[in-house]
Amino acid sequence: MGVTGSIAAYKAAVLCRLLKVAGAEVKVVMTPLAKEFITPLTMATLSKNPIAVEFYNPENGDWHSHISLGEWADCMLIAPATANTMAKMAAGIADNLLLTTYLSARNLVMVAPAMDCDMFAHPATQHNLEVLRERGVEIIESGEGELASGLVGKGRMAEPEQIVAAVEAALSEKKKSLQGKRFLVTAGATVEAIDPVRFISNHSTGKMGYALAEELAERGAEVTLVSGRTNLAVPRGVRRVDVLSAEQMYEASVEAFEGADGAIMCAAVADYTPAEVATSKIKKSDDDMAIRLKRTRDIAASLGEVKGERLLVGFALETDNERVNAEAKLAKKNFDFIVLNSLREKGAGFGVDTNRVSLIDRTSREELPLMSKREVAERIIDKIETLL
Ligand code: CTP
Repeated sequence: MGVTGSIAAYKAAVLCRLLKVAGAEVKVVMTPLAKEFITPLTMATLSKNPIAVEFYNPENGDWHSHISLGEWADCMLIAPATANTMAKMAAGIADNLLLTTYLSARNLVMVAPAMDCDMFAHPATQHNLEVLRERGVEIIESGEGELASGLVGKGRMAEPEQIVAAVEAALSEKKKSLQGKRFLVTAGATVEAIDPVRFISNHSTGKMGYALAEELAERGAEVTLVSGRTNLAVPRGVRRVDVLSAEQMYEASVEAFEGADGAIMCAAVADYTPAEVATSKIKKSDDDMAIRLKRTRDIAASLGEVKGERLLVGFALETDNERVNAEAKLAKKNFDFIVLNSLREKGAGFGVDTNRVSLIDRTSREELPLMSKREVAERIIDKIETLL
């Protein structure tokens, strides 16, 4: 448990006690400022372990190894986490024992942010939260309400009971229901070069495909993620193959599909690519210009032709005649089912964290409500499990 210098540190005592009652072994690391808010004696007594604040004990030179602390814990929970500590975590700064422990932590890391509403809302803090989230840190949402400053807004630390529940949920091992199964997931946008400087691409960020890969891996599957351009981090336990063009994605996908039990085709693949790629930068002239495009190979349809017993799941992003178009793709590409998302739905589509989809197979259609992409991934994989 990491404690940083926020007024919410007074709740760290209750939190530590609740973790102990829930059966956890707790070792506490405090930042120097946290000691001003709550005493090491309190935390040591409650955790039944000495507190680590400095890299070594100045009295006897006893070295506090951040590496062994990071290795020891199943979960590093930083609560409260100040804007300052999260900024340093995002930047990789290691100027206190808590931060060095974070950088060497191997297992789950969770943070419960606590700060004033203006600090919380600041783009810098929001950016840092996003960076941490993308690196796999679980953020325990702050609550809204009256803050110690007297202001009212979002930023107060989640209540200790909520934090314990979040830790228990995160640590409870997912059923390894897909152990021994192999999957290919394609994700992100392909990039088709026009010349060494320009390209044709699309707005896909890869979030949906990455959520699918992560969920498959958590259920014990062996996952190859063939990824076009995105700025997401590789999910834990997933093998990523980076590609740019549709042609490269085709090659990598065909290879990964061999020996796989199934594939989820989530990438936004270019349907056309420049017929000729200029080897040097194209100079402008006063005339208009045209770029001749040729068709790319349809990866999903190619896998559909050879799939045999393997499972194949596709996506369709439609703006018109959604259902008819999706059903046509289901048949044409030989998918077992297709996930239809509509660009017209609020909260669905590119770059957002939520999605609203329907799962369509040859005999049924299931409309899901608006949910997080992670929850959508869970539902898609639940359906895959029933088909396997
Ligand atoms: N797909 C693919 N390879 C391509 C094009 C698409 O694997 N070259 C996959 C996508 O990953 C998705 C599905 O096929 O799972 C549907 O893609 P979409 O672009 O919506 O359909 P298209 O077949 O390209 O049809 P259109 O662009 O005309 O809607």
